[in-house]
Amino acid sequence: MTSSPPPFRVGLLGHGTVGAAFEELLASQADAIGKKVGLRPQISGVLTRSRGSFEDVLDRSDLVVELIGGTDPALDYALQSLRAGRHLVTANKQLLSQHGEALFDAAGQSGAQLRFEAAVAGVVPVIRVIGETLAGAHIERVHGIVNGTTNFILTAMARTGASYEDALGEAQELGYAEADPTEDVTGKDAAAKMAILARLAFGAPVHLEEVPYEGIESITAEDIAYAKELGLSLKLIGSAERRDDGLWVQVYPAFLYAGHPLAAVNGSFNAVTIESPAITEITLSGPGAGGMQTASAVLGDVVSAMIPPSFNPPPAVPQPLVTDVESAFYLHVEVADRPGVLAQVAEILGLQGVSIKSVVQKGIGEDARLAMVMHPVLESRFRAAVDLIGRLDFVRSTPRVIRVIEEVFE
Ligand SMILES: NC(=O)c1ccc[n+]([C@@H]2O[C@H](COP(=O)([O-])OP(=O)(O)OC[C@H]3O[C@@H](n4cnc5c(N)ncnc54)[C@H](OP(=O)(O)O)[C@@H]3O)[C@@H](O)[C@H]2O)c1
Repeated sequence: MTSSPPPFRVGLLGHGTVGAAFEELLASQADAIGKKVGLRPQISGVLTRSRGSFEDVLDRSDLVVELIGGTDPALDYALQSLRAGRHLVTANKQLLSQHGEALFDAAGQSGAQLRFEAAVAGVVPVIRVIGETLAGAHIERVHGIVNGTTNFILTAMARTGASYEDALGEAQELGYAEADPTEDVTGKDAAAKMAILARLAFGAPVHLEEVPYEGIESITAEDIAYAKELGLSLKLIGSAERRDDGLWVQVYPAFLYAGHPLAAVNGSFNAVTIESPAITEITLSGPGAGGMQTASAVLGDVVSAMIPPSFNPPPAVPQPLVTDVESAFYLHVEVADRPGVLAQVAEILGLQGVSIKSVVQKGIGEDARLAMVMHPVLESRFRAAVDLIGRLDFVRSTPRVIRVIEEVFE
């Protein structure tokens, strides 16, 4: 007669989209996990706004899963769990990007594990790959598409020529965007995820507030149409990379050439590229959200935590964060259609050391539109030139600027 494996008690905080999917997935996988690991996970208590008490869930658990979201009361519950020696698994990007150091300290002191695979790029195993698989590689750069809502909107705009507003409406109808999409479309959600990835890849504390972010609300159908003519596609990119003088962590819309591994990532998918001399580069991609997909990443963390040894990153070492770095740019400007206009724009760019890589010019009645891509230049120099161009008497609208990522991976 074979005896069933002893229980491993999982306390569940939050029973919404992800929490309910997690309970369902755990129930269906518990026997299989029990056979593999020698312990059978089971839900030992659930807390929602109307059900259960935190103290009771904590008392009756070996591990706590936090799926409430936000920081209050999630932070308090997370710290109490770790201090009590419970492993903590969370999908909460706000918690990690704003209070990561307090959580890592609490885990370090009690020896409990803190796992958060689902907090970045959903089911795409980027946390595990950076923190464990590539623990022996010197990571130079992590960048990617870490927000599925904005990628869905940009893909729809490119596919159908729709306006930003129409594409957002479609995303909301299909459930890819919230009724209030602010966190996603402003780039703030992606900034939280890049803060978490930077902390993990470079061992430096990076707080959400230190990550500059720009979203996609001002992208027009016209930008995307011009981009197609220039052989580019537009993505909301999060970058975290080592520079000579510190770390550069930022979220921004960017044009990519077709050969870039992120250029082909469409719809609500996420993808993250990790670069290190030891591995060249790898790109991981897959669904970035969804109840069951996220629950699967959470359950993977639970199973990992059931198996020693523990996984806690070493103490963070502060490094400066830099903001003015070299990049290629796209410039769109509406001008009076008369001789010498392009030459004057080019002259101002030239005086600031900005050189033009390609230009598209189109007439619109008495005016014309210039869309240009520049060779890489220090951002402050380019912005200074754009500022001067914006003041020329023949310029009809505020010039628009978008970064271009030049690398092509073939
Ligand atoms: N949804 C996704 O696709 C997705 C993807 C990646 C990561 N995440 C992350 O996963 C986490 C959960 O997201 P979700 O979409 O499942 O959220 P959700 O559907 O809003 O569920 C939140 C749950 O937390 C409970 N809760 C809220 N405030 C509470 C409080 N003060 N005390 C106790 N319980 C409280 C709610 O209780 P009631 O049931 O009583 O309202 C609900 O059960 C978040 O951190 C989110 O960022 C979600």
